[in-house]
Amino acid sequence: MKKVLETIFVCSNCGNEFSKWSGQCTACKEWNTIREAPKQRIVRGGRQVKSKIARKTEIVNLGTAEKKIDNVSSIFTTNIPEFDRVLGKGLIRGQVILFAGEPGIGKSTLLTQLMGNVSGLYVAGEESAEQIRLRVERLRLDTKNFDILETNSADEVIEFLDRTQNVYKIVVVDSVQVMMTEGVAGVAGSPSQTREVTFRLVEAAKRLGVTIVIVGHVTKEGDIAGPKMLEHMVDTVLYFEGDKNSDLRILRVTKNRFGPTDEVGVFKMEERGLREIKSDEINLVSGSEAAKVGSAVTVVMEGTRPILVEIQALVVESFAPMPKRVFSGIDFNRGQLLVAVAQKILSMPLYKYDVFVAVTGGIRLDDTGCDVAVMAAMWSSYKEKALKDKMVWVGEVSLLGEVKKVRGMERREKEAKSLGREVAKIENVRELKNLIKS
Ligand code: TYD
Ligand code: MG
Repeated sequence: MKKVLETIFVCSNCGNEFSKWSGQCTACKEWNTIREAPKQRIVRGGRQVKSKIARKTEIVNLGTAEKKIDNVSSIFTTNIPEFDRVLGKGLIRGQVILFAGEPGIGKSTLLTQLMGNVSGLYVAGEESAEQIRLRVERLRLDTKNFDILETNSADEVIEFLDRTQNVYKIVVVDSVQVMMTEGVAGVAGSPSQTREVTFRLVEAAKRLGVTIVIVGHVTKEGDIAGPKMLEHMVDTVLYFEGDKNSDLRILRVTKNRFGPTDEVGVFKMEERGLREIKSDEINLVSGSEAAKVGSAVTVVMEGTRPILVEIQALVVESFAPMPKRVFSGIDFNRGQLLVAVAQKILSMPLYKYDVFVAVTGGIRLDDTGCDVAVMAAMWSSYKEKALKDKMVWVGEVSLLGEVKKVRGMERREKEAKSLGREVAKIENVRELKNLIKS
């Protein structure tokens, strides 16, 4: 061994390496996280483990590569149609999926259901095998399909997969935040650990042709520093979303090397696990309900599916020097923009009003088609009058207050119609003045 690997300093927060010590990490700006790394550990983990698995350099001729690719790209179903649809056709051998979502949203539940269909290995880092057994029983799944490996060591998982080649088609690692790998500084869940754990799992998946689903927790504040950092390393990124106070869950794909990225799967969390939801059960609003003050119904496109959603706004006089702006379910900057347009075009004196906007059902909308509904709900709350009945508000609002058509307009109109509602014909938000009940 050459003597190049003398003492180095590693930040336990971000994993960056430095040649000398300092109080603050220049990369992630954390204080007191830089430690001297024992050179032996670095040699063993960082280099040796990788070199053990390194293959000889080989060139690939595309004419003959077909067979090799076939071997890793064979598709198999999850037996959960909504899950398959989101992925494209199904799972692919060697595919690595990052499965992200807030704690408690139902990640482990959905993956347990998946494993009940496709026998695989469940790596239990967070829970004990006993806890998983209780869940399997609650979900009425066959316990025979479950092999559980209780460990926090990614190296142990990989060693085990090496020993049991071709036994498992799919491995669920729950979760990346509790997994550790040897030879890397930092505690479990630190950026340096999660990155290296993921790197090694990806390598193993490709080498062994086994599909690995890596679970990652994200926090409500949108602090996805953990899983976000891993997105470029994996083939597919799935987000499991929903409000814990509601039972609706949405499976969204944000990156997919093997399929579409605009599909969503919709589930309901029930007593015995997650149930797939058909189009006609999906709407969160009934057709006949009378309009309420501060409420506007919109149709959003979730993938290729139209869903009716209610937007609620509360516009109240503010007693704070800076009026409050709280938007849940819509983008904060988008909300700010709509408040500004409302102030300018509808002459609402919002500079002295607090504005709260919420999307019911706990879904997050990133569809600008709901702009006009947000404006309509704010206007209704401000005027303390309900909007006209049986309306649905769809359209993107420009800085000038114009309402523009959005994608999927026909499907949205059809969906609204099927529930006895009508999409409001409105070209400028100014017209909202005439669209409230007198
Ligand atoms: P879980 O899958 O453990 O969440 P995550 O892995 O994302 O942290 O889900 C936990 C919640 O789901 C918990 O509050 C109980 C609820 N749950 C049901 O409502 N029905 C069920 O069948 C199961 C297994 C869980
Ligand atoms: Mg879990």
